[in-house]
Amino acid sequence: MPALPPVFPDPTRSQTYESVLELIGNTPLVKLNRLTEGLPASVYVKLDGFNLGGSSKDRIGLNIVREAVASGRLLPGGRIADTGAGNTAIGIALAGNATGHPSSSVPLPTLSPEKANLLAFLGVELLHGRPDVPRDDPEHWANVARARAASEERGWWSHQESNHDNPAAHIASTGPEIWHQTAGRVTHFLAQIATGGTVSGTGAYLHRRNPEIEVIATDYPDSMHSQTNLYRVAAREPGFERLEHDWPENIDLDVIDRFERRDREAAIELGWRAAREEGLLIGVSSALSLRVALDLAAEAREDDVFVVFSADSARDYVSREYNLGWLRENGYAALAERIERGELSAAPRTGGRTPRRDGELSRSLA
Ligand SMILES: Cc1ncc(COP(=O)(O)O)c(C=O)c1O
Repeated sequence: MPALPPVFPDPTRSQTYESVLELIGNTPLVKLNRLTEGLPASVYVKLDGFNLGGSSKDRIGLNIVREAVASGRLLPGGRIADTGAGNTAIGIALAGNATGHPSSSVPLPTLSPEKANLLAFLGVELLHGRPDVPRDDPEHWANVARARAASEERGWWSHQESNHDNPAAHIASTGPEIWHQTAGRVTHFLAQIATGGTVSGTGAYLHRRNPEIEVIATDYPDSMHSQTNLYRVAAREPGFERLEHDWPENIDLDVIDRFERRDREAAIELGWRAAREEGLLIGVSSALSLRVALDLAAEAREDDVFVVFSADSARDYVSREYNLGWLRENGYAALAERIERGELSAAPRTGGRTPRRDGELSRSLA
C-alpha cells in the first residue's frame, strides 16, 4: 500500500509558460501500487490525459498543424478536416484555433457526449460519415473529410491515418519522455492502436534506444482493424496479405513486436477498478492496455518495467462506459451489477492473442 505523500510537491519546481501550446507533452509517468500487488514486475502509466486538451492527440494536432503551415500545405486561415475518435479533433482545434484555422471533424459514432460538447465549445464543425462502409462509398468517413476540405479553396485534409507528422510527434516527444522518465529501464511499451501513430512513433524511438524493448499494440477482437487482414497478416496466416487501404499507413509493422486483444468488458471493468482501487482516472483504451500489461506482468521478470500508455482520462467516459445506467442499457448489465455489489474481478480475461512477430515478416511488409 503506498504511503500518502507527507507534503505537496516542491513549489520551486512549478513552471510558468508563454503560451497554452507549451502545455502539450511532458506528461506524468506514475507507478501503480495496488492493482499490481503480488506481481513481480513494475507497471507505470503515462498519463497523457494531462495534456492541454485532455489527450495524447494534442501532440499530433500541434505537430500536424505546425508542419503543414511550415511546408505550405496549410495556407493562412485554411480549414482543417479529418476523421477520428474525437480526441484528434480537439488537438487539431487547439492548435488550429491558436493559429487562425477553423476545423471540421467526422467522428466515430461512439463519440462520447463529453467530447462532443467540448468540440462544439471549441467551434469544431461535426460532420456525419461512416467508418463501416466500403472505402469507395461517398458516406465513408474519410471521403466525407476529404470532400469537406475540397469544398473550400484553402481547405486541407490532415489525414492522420497516413500523415507522418502523427507518428513523428511521438518520436519527438512521447518516446524521449518515457526513456528519460524510466532512466532507460523500460522493457515493455503498450498502447491501444487506432491510427497506429502512438504505438509506431513511440515504439520506433524506444527501439532506436534499445531494440530489446517489446512494443505491444492492444485492440479489441471486434474493432475496425479486426475486420481487416491486419491480424491475419501479423500472425502470418497463409494466403493473407495487406490490401490497399486495409488499415492505416501509420500502423508500422516494422515497429510493433506483438498484438494483444482483450474484450471491451475486461477493459471497462479494469477502468472502474483503476478508479476505485488506485484513484487513477484513465480512459477505456488505457484500461485495455493496462489489462494486457497486468496479464503479461504476472509472467515477467522482477526488473521488467511496463509502461502503459493512457491516451485520455476517465472524465471523458462518465456518460458512457463509466456510467452504470449506460452499462445496463448497452449490454453490460452483469458488469453493472458486479460494480454495484463491489465485486469487481481481479482475474485476467484473455481474448485473441497473436504470436510475437519476427523481423523477417516486418521487412517483407515494408
Ligand atoms: C482514447 C484513444 N486511445 C487510443 C487511441 C489510439 O491512438 P493512435 O491513433 O495513435 O493509434 C486514440 C486515437 O484516436 C484515442 O482517441
